Amino acid sequence: MSQLIELGAVTSSDDVGNAIVETCDLDGVAPDDFYVSNIYPTEVKINNQWIRVQKQRMDGAIVISDGNNDSSNGVTAECRILRDLNQGDRVVVGVEGIRTVRKKSNRELKAKEEFSFMGAGVSSERRVELVVEQIAWELRQIRDRGGKVVVTAGPVVIHTGGAKHLSGLIRDGYVQGLLGGNAIAVHDMEQSLMGTSLGVDMQKGTPVRGGHRHHLKVINTVRRYGSIAQAVEAGIITHGIMYECVKHNIPFALAGSIRDDGPLPDTQMDLIKAQEEYAQLLEGTDMILMLSTMLHSIGVGNMTPAGVKMVCVDINPAVVTKLSDRGSVESVGVVTDVGLFLSLLVNQLDKLTSPYQQI
Ligand SMILES: NC(=O)c1ccc[n+]([C@@H]2O[C@H](COP(=O)([O-])OP(=O)(O)OC[C@H]3O[C@@H](n4cnc5c(N)ncnc54)[C@H](O)[C@@H]3O)[C@@H](O)[C@H]2O)c1
Repeated sequence: MSQLIELGAVTSSDDVGNAIVETCDLDGVAPDDFYVSNIYPTEVKINNQWIRVQKQRMDGAIVISDGNNDSSNGVTAECRILRDLNQGDRVVVGVEGIRTVRKKSNRELKAKEEFSFMGAGVSSERRVELVVEQIAWELRQIRDRGGKVVVTAGPVVIHTGGAKHLSGLIRDGYVQGLLGGNAIAVHDMEQSLMGTSLGVDMQKGTPVRGGHRHHLKVINTVRRYGSIAQAVEAGIITHGIMYECVKHNIPFALAGSIRDDGPLPDTQMDLIKAQEEYAQLLEGTDMILMLSTMLHSIGVGNMTPAGVKMVCVDINPAVVTKLSDRGSVESVGVVTDVGLFLSLLVNQLDKLTSPYQQI
């Protein structure tokens, strides 16, 4: 039944029972038969009225809180991850009185909308340029209407020469938040300070003698200044992705991992706090660009409800399929080199002269 609910199946009769609710007997632990939420907008029937679940995300429990016990007035339902449950919280169990609200099929949408996003799919065979054109068009529209785009990016963006393009996107107002780990920031600033990424000269493409120590020097320097922002303000970091974020007040969250060097003072090594920072930055996002980081992209995907457009770029088709395959029509995968993708994207954005120009 929970799989059918996820697919959007609804009972035809009107006599669907109210959702069954049980009380948590321990902090951080749901009742055994708790309903596990998915990415789709969900409604639960409480006191004979359907109410919309707030803070929709996958892998959460649905907590019911009532302002007034006698009617559904004031009753709220919200998704909450297990560790945030408190003893006494009332949680939906079983499958009764729960439905998801699914969009019309992609094909129907295509027929209706002038511009339809690429639809779920992985574009290893389609021309990458074509997909990039559509993404550029969408980015331009989101920027022009004051929407929100969040980028999650790995260090490969820097290694493949994508830093100047991503910096340009931030500078030109296409990015409203950056999520990543220690490495994207470290190698971006290594490039800014020393002209290398993981010891490879970015102009010549050849390793520099002793270059494998460069990123450690950079980490040390930033630690001396206390934060990335302070290193930028002191004039130590003069260009690059982190520089543009600081200069344009674009919030970023760096989540730690077990393989981090240093870490940078800004890298959040408390993973619960890091998840909270990610979730906060993702609120109200229209589009997420996932650029060559399996770890952070999967983390972001797990926090994102259906309806947010997701573009996953990775050179490994298996990673792209995993990230795009959420059954959501709004996600698209691009199998390509991320440096090349960013360069094409920036070129395409430059070509768009009018915000509403048809491609
Ligand atoms: N020195 C450090 O502190 C350091 C160094 C490296 C990684 N890390 C940390 O380790 C964690 C995992 O790192 P990650 O996110 O890079 O690893 P990941 O394995 O999660 O993701 C890397 C992805 O890049 C893809 N990729 C490789 N080459 C590509 C290309 N040319 N174009 C497009 N995609 C390409 C791979 O297929 C893979 O999916 C992060 O938190 C990171 O910050 C830290």
